[in-house]
Amino acid sequence: MEWHNDWYKRMSFYQIWVRSFADGNGDGIGDLYGVYDKLEYIRSLGVDGIWFSPLYPSPNADYGYDISDYRDIHPEYGTLEQFKKVLHKAHDLGLKVIMDLVVNHTSDEHPWFLESRKGKDNPYSDYYIWRDKPNNWDSLFEGKAWEYDKVRGQYYLHIFAKKQPDLNMDNPKVREEVKNIMRFWLDMGVDGFREDVINFISKKEGLPNGLPFLPAVNGMPYYKDGPHIHEYMAEFREVCKEYDCFQIGEGPMTTVQSAMKYLTGPTKSLDMMFSFDHMMADCIYTEYVHRPFSLVKLKRAFTKWQKALAGKGWCSLYLENHDHPRIISRYGSVHYWRESGTMLAASFLFQQGTPFIYQGQEIGMTNIRLHSIDDYVDVSTKNNYHSYHLKDTIERRLKRIHLSSRDSSRTPVQWDATRYAGFSKVKPWFYVNPNYRKINVAAEEKDPDSILNFYRKCLALRKQSKTLIYGEYKEYFPKDPNIYMYERSLGDIRYLIICSFSKLPVKVHFPENYADRKGQLMLCNYPDGPQVMADSLRERAHQEVSLLAAEHGMFRPYETRVYRFRERTQRS
Ligand code: GLC
Ligand code: CA
Repeated sequence: MEWHNDWYKRMSFYQIWVRSFADGNGDGIGDLYGVYDKLEYIRSLGVDGIWFSPLYPSPNADYGYDISDYRDIHPEYGTLEQFKKVLHKAHDLGLKVIMDLVVNHTSDEHPWFLESRKGKDNPYSDYYIWRDKPNNWDSLFEGKAWEYDKVRGQYYLHIFAKKQPDLNMDNPKVREEVKNIMRFWLDMGVDGFREDVINFISKKEGLPNGLPFLPAVNGMPYYKDGPHIHEYMAEFREVCKEYDCFQIGEGPMTTVQSAMKYLTGPTKSLDMMFSFDHMMADCIYTEYVHRPFSLVKLKRAFTKWQKALAGKGWCSLYLENHDHPRIISRYGSVHYWRESGTMLAASFLFQQGTPFIYQGQEIGMTNIRLHSIDDYVDVSTKNNYHSYHLKDTIERRLKRIHLSSRDSSRTPVQWDATRYAGFSKVKPWFYVNPNYRKINVAAEEKDPDSILNFYRKCLALRKQSKTLIYGEYKEYFPKDPNIYMYERSLGDIRYLIICSFSKLPVKVHFPENYADRKGQLMLCNYPDGPQVMADSLRERAHQEVSLLAAEHGMFRPYETRVYRFRERTQRS
């Protein structure tokens, strides 16, 4: 099989949520000066690109996802000139840069909205979705999805927060605006877009009432994958074709069947999609209902997407971003912090797809526990606390927030063990996780067995292997509640990736077709390698060469191993 021209398939990305990344100018808020100084660090991870969560001017009702100017940089983060400096330096270092394109809604302080609310004769009147009488839809973030505007004397639709009015994408002028925004950034040299809630932009004509018993998501059947979505997406794709750019769409609650329409065939309009299935192995709808973590559910989600897209499309791979709490606190264990943090890396980085690593994930940052809901700042966290399960005690409601708050992934990045974790010289805009003395970049740089260095090893291994990039995916023992085992194969090379999600030692059975094979141990997250083999290994010149055999299959808590096999019939 040949190398494809699709550059994004060989890449991995690092996501920056700038406000909490690094403060370069000493006001306690992360910014593009801080990013500029950390670009070498980002490159050192072995990633090839950066996705910036919104950097644009915003009243910050939803921290940047409520945009008031699509063609500028938020003054707290820098200037357009500073952005260009970051972009050029990133390019010089070989890093692509993709921007967040948030066009389902704007801020209510965007000039279009300020005009639109003035009245029906205004040229911007139809830029938003206005009605005299609201339907029964709930907002995902704040109460009902309709807000009465006194100036206009009508209600406007907001699927997210009140300060995020939905754009009327049925209006061709709005679509022209979107295309011009894309061209503005592409002309400057950015390499593509991550498109926010892009499967919500086309609403069903007539906006029918939703099912009353589905809180928060009752309108979703009428705005997810709406009637004109693929026409609109095709228009945006045309812009991207003018440039060699790439598009990844966020698809909240998308099913693999509907994702296929965006990713394959005549309606292909995106190179990848961020799906949510695998983020619901311990919850429903990401934060409303919690349930104990189920590895079987997680594996089912992983494998469903891997299989459906095999040979037809391409997966995105992620376990964290600015919308989900930290993964060690969810699918791993803070008691086995290093073990589970490294194991989780191997559980997703070797699947077929393009990995996205969220700031702080590479050092194993964990959730924060604040003592009162007033200490949290995220609009959806507050809504969750104040609107659902109101009969619960305060303790129980806070516990839910500890498990689910997006604020947990938005605490300042922990750079070193000095005051404020080296994020800033002054008190940061948001709480620093008190574990920064142990969990920080500087400490992990020095430690060859750190989570940070494990991420580097994984990314380096992936990058030099066609098999790990293009190879076929196969899962073994899908019903095993403790072990996730998957294989990647291409030509005569095979990789077997084994991840224990158990706090207890577990015996691993290898697939029958592996019984007498000789494999090379490429990675193991326990510094001394597989325990039972340690003695025989010590005698070998190359510690990393080992035999894989059934009796060696005892895995310690959260142990992970990556083996490489070459068919013996082939010449090496
Ligand atoms: C996406 C973003 C999220 C934001 C929402 C509304 O899900 O990732 O942060 O709150 O869209 O824009
Ligand atoms: Ca700053």
